[in-house]
Amino acid sequence: MLKIQGLSKAYQKGKVKAVDDLNLEVKPGEIFGFLGPNGAGKTTSIKMIVGLLKQDQGSITVNGYDTLKQTLAAKSSLGFVPDNPDLYDKLTGIEYVNFIADVHRVDSTTRQKRLGKLIEMFEISKAMGDLVGSFSHGMKQKLALTAALIHEPPLLILDEPMVGLDPRSAHLFKELMNEHCRQGMTVFFSTHILDVAERLCHRVGIIKKGQLISCGTMEDLRTSAAEKASLESIFLELTEK
Ligand SMILES: Nc1ncnc2c1ncn2[C@@H]1O[C@H](COP(=O)(O)OP(=O)(O)OP(=O)(O)O)[C@@H](O)[C@H]1O
Ligand SMILES: [Mg+2]
Repeated sequence: MLKIQGLSKAYQKGKVKAVDDLNLEVKPGEIFGFLGPNGAGKTTSIKMIVGLLKQDQGSITVNGYDTLKQTLAAKSSLGFVPDNPDLYDKLTGIEYVNFIADVHRVDSTTRQKRLGKLIEMFEISKAMGDLVGSFSHGMKQKLALTAALIHEPPLLILDEPMVGLDPRSAHLFKELMNEHCRQGMTVFFSTHILDVAERLCHRVGIIKKGQLISCGTMEDLRTSAAEKASLESIFLELTEK
């Protein structure tokens, strides 16, 4: 589903090494939490996975497609919600989703069915005729998620998806992720909300200064820490200066 090998990326002509020899594999049907302190390299890694940035070294395979050699096939097989949902402000909600559905060539009957279910669940049906520019941050987040799911991609990549969601929406989001994984879909998301990661994710990876310092199930992480340690205490210990 997602395989990252020897991935590296530096900014400012090599001065800032944002991602440093990252190796990671996420299996089908898995919810994977990508954790790490601010500036650890999560967004940079995600941008390379979804094809917004080119890596300096290493390879990324998305659903069997190499992101550099089979760019379009890799991109079409994933859904992505960035950390800051800067959508097209001058389109209405429905125009935006239709645009994304057109890009992915989703036929109108299928899109109506999927769209209806998602916007009703997220309670944004009434706002769909309004300009995206008038949406609140949380509403944009829900619209971006709706659009990312419109082609039912086997892999969903989310950069801090819980930011700005109200408690009900956050709950719905978790239910939705669980439901999609039960159907065999894979979810890879970055987050700072450790108790959500602990409860929702099958496995988590912790990145620090561009390197993966820990990866596995909660049980795996606990074997190298105190037995009943919370993810928070494991995270704090591992990422200590
Ligand atoms: N466009 C850029 N130009 C220069 N340096 C950058 C750029 N984007 C990110 N960086 C640097 O790369 C490093 C990794 O940043 P990144 O945004 O990937 O971190 P992050 O783990 O997503 O952090 P956060 O939790 O705050 O979102 C940081 O040192 C950051 O300052
Ligand atoms: Mg980030």
